[in-house]
Amino acid sequence: MLGPVILAASRSDRMRRLISAAPVTKQVVDRFIPGETVDGILPIVRQLTDNGLELTMDVVGEDITTPEQAEAARDAYLELIDRLKPLELGERAEMSVKLSMFGQALPGGHELALANVRPVVEAAAEIGTTVTLDAEDHTTLDSMFAIHEELRKDFPQTGCVIQAYLFRTEEDARRLAAAGSRVRLVKGAYKEPAEVAYQQKHEIDKAYVRILRTLMEGEGYPMIGSHDPRLIAIAQELARTAGRKLDEYEFQMLYGIRGEEHLRLAAEGHRMRVYTAYGTDWYGYFMRRLAEKPANLRFFARSMITK
Ligand code: FDA
Repeated sequence: MLGPVILAASRSDRMRRLISAAPVTKQVVDRFIPGETVDGILPIVRQLTDNGLELTMDVVGEDITTPEQAEAARDAYLELIDRLKPLELGERAEMSVKLSMFGQALPGGHELALANVRPVVEAAAEIGTTVTLDAEDHTTLDSMFAIHEELRKDFPQTGCVIQAYLFRTEEDARRLAAAGSRVRLVKGAYKEPAEVAYQQKHEIDKAYVRILRTLMEGEGYPMIGSHDPRLIAIAQELARTAGRKLDEYEFQMLYGIRGEEHLRLAAEGHRMRVYTAYGTDWYGYFMRRLAEKPANLRFFARSMITK
């Protein structure tokens, strides 16, 4: 029951101010967001890639309120890409972006987000890598898919995320499972109403498997975004049945969650990409990680009491 309460708090400005200012929070946040600056995150990039892992990099931030903040988000990604260039990682380090951080919710936001994200996609292509558009709450998705389609005209490798908990996603998956597409399937991390989304874990898991089958049997490149051991085993089985080789799909997990599993899958020869978030505007990302696992909240609360 705690999950929905924490997700509601993740959108509250008052809670944002309170939690962001709490003196001990940073320590707990570091588990999921292991750096605040590019200088802080580059050693983590090196460490993960030295261990045979790939990355998708996220500059944390969302729901910005001015066009200047959207431009700052764009510039933060451009700086990151510039600093990644000498490492010559190519597609081993791709970018994940949230369009709400690029201005999507502002007046004229669809065009603004497209204008701000395009230079990031161009810069990524110049260093041999690509960008995946994260999926946010369901009201933003028509705009996200339209921007995805527009970007793919010039950069066909641009990826997108679909969420198994939404009723619409089976249809989206059928449309997206076409040659050349890159699609990350996740369960979904936002608080969604019963009119648009499954609410029960077992329903979401069943939908995940149906959608994953569509992606695996299709012609695109499936990216399995989950830490769920059952779904990972099913994904391996579906890939085998669909006749996919190890480099024709990949697993993705979040930094700070099931790190040993990242290494185990990579050692088995799988492509394993770690979603690595950094930056100072970590509140929304951090709260979604708390909501996913109530034990995280207990750990967080204990750290505040014992300090
Ligand atoms: P589930 O929640 O059932 O967890 C399975 C197991 O994993 C748990 O039992 C626990 O051991 C571990 N675990 C999961 N979450 C944990 C946590 N926070 N802390 C500690 N342990 C945890 N969502 C979205 O709406 N839009 C998006 O764009 C993305 N992008 C994205 C990228 C990648 C690479 C991943 C892995 C996930 C996302 N998500 C996302 C988040 C996703 O929707 C979902 O909320 C989480 O992945 C948790 O779901 P699982 O599939 O891991 O299963």
